[in-house]
Amino acid sequence: MDFKSQLNINEVPNHIAIIMDGNGRWAKSHNKPRVFGHKKGVVSVRNVVEGAGEIGVKYLTLYAFSTENWNRPKVEVAALMQLLVATISNEVSSLNKNNVRLLTIGDLKSLPGNCERELEKAKEKTKNNTGLSLVLALSYSSKSEIVRAVKKIANDVVKNEVKIDAINDNLINDYLDTANVPSPELLIRTSGEYRLSNFLLWQIAYSELYFTNKYWPDFTKEDLFEAVFDYQNRERRFGLTSEQIKN
Ligand code: IPE
Ligand code: IPE
Ligand code: MG
Repeated sequence: MDFKSQLNINEVPNHIAIIMDGNGRWAKSHNKPRVFGHKKGVVSVRNVVEGAGEIGVKYLTLYAFSTENWNRPKVEVAALMQLLVATISNEVSSLNKNNVRLLTIGDLKSLPGNCERELEKAKEKTKNNTGLSLVLALSYSSKSEIVRAVKKIANDVVKNEVKIDAINDNLINDYLDTANVPSPELLIRTSGEYRLSNFLLWQIAYSELYFTNKYWPDFTKEDLFEAVFDYQNRERRFGLTSEQIKN
């Protein structure tokens, strides 16, 4: 089935977030080392960025490396960091060609110096692009993001720059790494796992969740369109009744 042609182009989510999972199992199923899966995963990233742009998604957030992932074997972490640097420097020109703006969330300072520098350069070079905003979650976990935000708020309260009464949803949003990024309407996780793994816990309060058994390296544009098609056939009620939504 061709899902793209069936999409209602006026109801495409503004923001899609993806937990790209299953690179290691994909590699294992092909009798290859885990890193081979991560490399193949980069191809999926390229395809999905392209697909998201084609249907007019404005923000695409990809969970690329979690704070918990630092505890993986040193060789895997090193390979992932190397892949990150190589990918970013290779892709900047095509990001510019496709009018994609690169953003990041997470604790970039904990990345190796060359990764951080490469990312900062790429963000700077793409900052005026007006098409898709590609948000990479790197050394990211939702709880650590919230902890950092709470510390910043507490600090501003102490300095009398924020009144306790002014603390609300919107203010908290403004202190998160995602301050200028709207909440995702749709969250996708690949690889058949049904968990959030510390990703965007605050931001996905009302997101639609979509799970697929496909491993990330097998995930294609058409799979993205299928997820959006599924999303478009749901009723988002935000606590209201179905009747209220229809009227
Ligand atoms: C996702 O694939 C990529 C990262 C977490 C960096 P995994 O590496 O988690 O692959 P599996 O889940 O072990 O198959
Ligand atoms: C989540 O995948 C993190 C990323 C996709 C970067 P993991 O593979 O690390 O998650 P768990 O450990 O299975 O929950
Ligand atoms: Mg995994």
